[in-house]
Amino acid sequence: MPKSNDSQVASHPYAQSFNKEQTPGHLHYAQLCGIGGQAGVGLPAAFSPNDTFASCDIGCGYGLTPLITAVADPTADVWGFDFNPEHIASATALAEAAGVSNATFLTASFDTFVDHDTPDFDLITLHGTFSWVSQENRQQITDILAKKLKPGGLVYISYNCSTGWASAAPMQQFLSDYVDRSGSGLQNGATDAVALVNQMRTAGASFFGVNPQAGKILDKALQSDPRYLVHEYLTGHWTVFSPAQVADDLFVAGLEYAGSADVTHAFDVFHMTPEAQAMLSSIEDPLLRQGVRDFFMTPLLRKDIFVKDPQPISLDQQTEYLLNQRFCATKEADQLPQHFNFPRGGVSLTAEAHAAIKAAMIRGPASARMIIDASGTETKSVLNGLKLLTDIGFLAPALPEAMTIAAQEQTDRFNETIAAFEEKGGEPVPFYASSISGGGVSRDTEPALLKALGVKV
Ligand SMILES: C[S@@+](CC[C@H](N)C(=O)[O-])C[C@H]1O[C@@H](n2cnc3c(N)ncnc32)[C@H](O)[C@@H]1O
Repeated sequence: MPKSNDSQVASHPYAQSFNKEQTPGHLHYAQLCGIGGQAGVGLPAAFSPNDTFASCDIGCGYGLTPLITAVADPTADVWGFDFNPEHIASATALAEAAGVSNATFLTASFDTFVDHDTPDFDLITLHGTFSWVSQENRQQITDILAKKLKPGGLVYISYNCSTGWASAAPMQQFLSDYVDRSGSGLQNGATDAVALVNQMRTAGASFFGVNPQAGKILDKALQSDPRYLVHEYLTGHWTVFSPAQVADDLFVAGLEYAGSADVTHAFDVFHMTPEAQAMLSSIEDPLLRQGVRDFFMTPLLRKDIFVKDPQPISLDQQTEYLLNQRFCATKEADQLPQHFNFPRGGVSLTAEAHAAIKAAMIRGPASARMIIDASGTETKSVLNGLKLLTDIGFLAPALPEAMTIAAQEQTDRFNETIAAFEEKGGEPVPFYASSISGGGVSRDTEPALLKALGVKV
């Protein structure tokens, strides 16, 4: 008799991961630019990287994202909770080994955390959680947001997007059926089922001809950690959403849609026909506009930002913030490209902006204002160039210099601790903490780039 895998999946350890979209520095930048929404909405002073804040990661897994957030801002009060005790034991052990005292990890479920004694939070994030839990659990998450988010506070939430996954639902069902019936266990069963689906494709299964997006999803599954496959595909509650559906769920917690943390939204225009762009800009309702956008872009995962009682900032304030925002190179600074190609054409930085940004980034992190003052380049082309290079992944928003200085001792300690932690049998930690970006840096990164990102190893 087939059985549900739910309880096994729930207690199955996830993969250790870091997600930059949950970090305050990235979210601050996303809201400053107004990606997928209105610029400046949800940019309360308390959330600026210049100020202290309290944050919480719901269903934090091994907790590497909140831990790195705490490491990179010793004045922040960072919380993470998960009902899997193995996840929380690992996060707590790593925080203790690295002497990080501003991160608190709790073994708690959504329904018990709501009554825990915690501060009110400026930022609550949940990544890889909402689409994979029951309706009852989603209601408990909403209760946490209603009770524990400060007015003006911000929520980051990712979820599976209905248009992107539309053709893959049968594959998800097949994986679940296979694991139920094969008896090969969760990880082996999921890996074997993906291999079997791939064999079907190779043998000419017409499903992949009529559903090309399913092929892309299969390609991703073939590259994935088996623990990701278990959590992505095997829960009995796997659900896809439209942006409006999620907004309706979160409305009861007093939250409004404010934009997206996914910087690739900036490239929508380079993938859409002029007719599509005109159609999109004619839709006033922001959630319907996002819904239509998803029909054109078919993303798998949406990474949305919601705000409680949003207070928009003025255009002057926004420009001021943008001019002061620092950036750092995340790839070799002397290789910064000037031209980029997209399906519907290319886009270029002006030669002056490209030269000015490249020269600055070779020297180290810099704000738009510093670049403009040093080079005399026109403001708009520098701001546009910095945004393009950031969206494409050559640059990242960097913390204010004073924060980097204040974080250096703690990031050094954390980065030195990782190897010893693993040697003592701790879960492998694939990311260092950067005092410059405030985020994680893959441990495979070239030594020169690690140094440029403030990672001394
Ligand atoms: C797919 S993992 C994502 C983990 C982490 N957010 C990340 O991105 O690496 C989902 C997490 O939610 C946790 N979770 C699921 N249901 C939960 C519940 N009812 N209460 C607390 N945590 C839960 C799981 O233990 C798991 O660590």
